[in-house]
Amino acid sequence: MLEVQDVTAVYGRSTLALQGVSLSVPAGGAVALLGSNGAGKSTLLKAISGILPATGGSLRGGTVRWEGQSLKNRDPAWIVRAGIVQVPEGRRVFARLTIEENLRAGGITCRNRKTTAQARDRVLALFPALEPRLSSPAGLLSGGEQQMLAIGRALMAAPRLLMLDEPSLGLAPLMVRQIAATIREIHGDGTSVLLVEQNAHMALSLVDSACVLEVGRVALEGTARELSQTDEIQRSYLGHGTDRTSA
Ligand SMILES: Nc1ncnc2c1ncn2[C@@H]1O[C@H](COP(=O)(O)OP(=O)(O)OP(=O)(O)O)[C@@H](O)[C@H]1O
Ligand SMILES: [Mg+2]
Repeated sequence: MLEVQDVTAVYGRSTLALQGVSLSVPAGGAVALLGSNGAGKSTLLKAISGILPATGGSLRGGTVRWEGQSLKNRDPAWIVRAGIVQVPEGRRVFARLTIEENLRAGGITCRNRKTTAQARDRVLALFPALEPRLSSPAGLLSGGEQQMLAIGRALMAAPRLLMLDEPSLGLAPLMVRQIAATIREIHGDGTSVLLVEQNAHMALSLVDSACVLEVGRVALEGTARELSQTDEIQRSYLGHGTDRTSA
């Protein structure tokens, strides 16, 4: 469904953020992208969603294909309409807009009223806590609630591939478990998922396969089961049984 092949990306003239990265997400699949700070995870999501140029970056080589069509140089709104929607790093809800307005903004590329109404029902069923607060400014929500809203806003565009950039970041363990359960439910409903996480424990519990980026290159890849058993993942990402937040 999504095929990233040999992608190289730079910021400005000299910062090489991705070097020859390949990754694919099959229809209905769930794939995780792991790696430490600065590895290039967000850059890869931005390269797929088409917002890399808006952050000063560009694709230098390789191909990104969605159901056989190239996504290179596509308008980000075209990519959303094609079915790929990204939940950005740090949630980025529109703080001064209400929850309702944030959701409406997420559905802005969708021209079919019935589809929008169905997406809104789905979001409120997934996140019942948002419903009584629809007219409150999003900036007043807790971090966990903002993450729910950011995911809800993305779902308003009825994605077939949902890309999430570190949804567990800064959240308490209970909220991480709730977000993980929600992602599992979204995937269970048939939406493909590409999940960027530093919380490997959470990510590997949700996906079929994963790849690990290290300074812009794929260092490891395999099924979630294989990766969770490798020494490197255990040492670097699962904390050797220390008290890392678990999902
Ligand atoms: N807008 C930008 N301009 C210049 N350099 C950037 C920009 N965004 C990222 N970089 C650089 O590109 C590299 C990859 O960054 P990226 O944000 O993709 O990493 P990441 O894996 O998402 O890290 P984190 O886990 O901290 O979010 C880093 O060296 C970073 O400093
Ligand atoms: Mg990032």
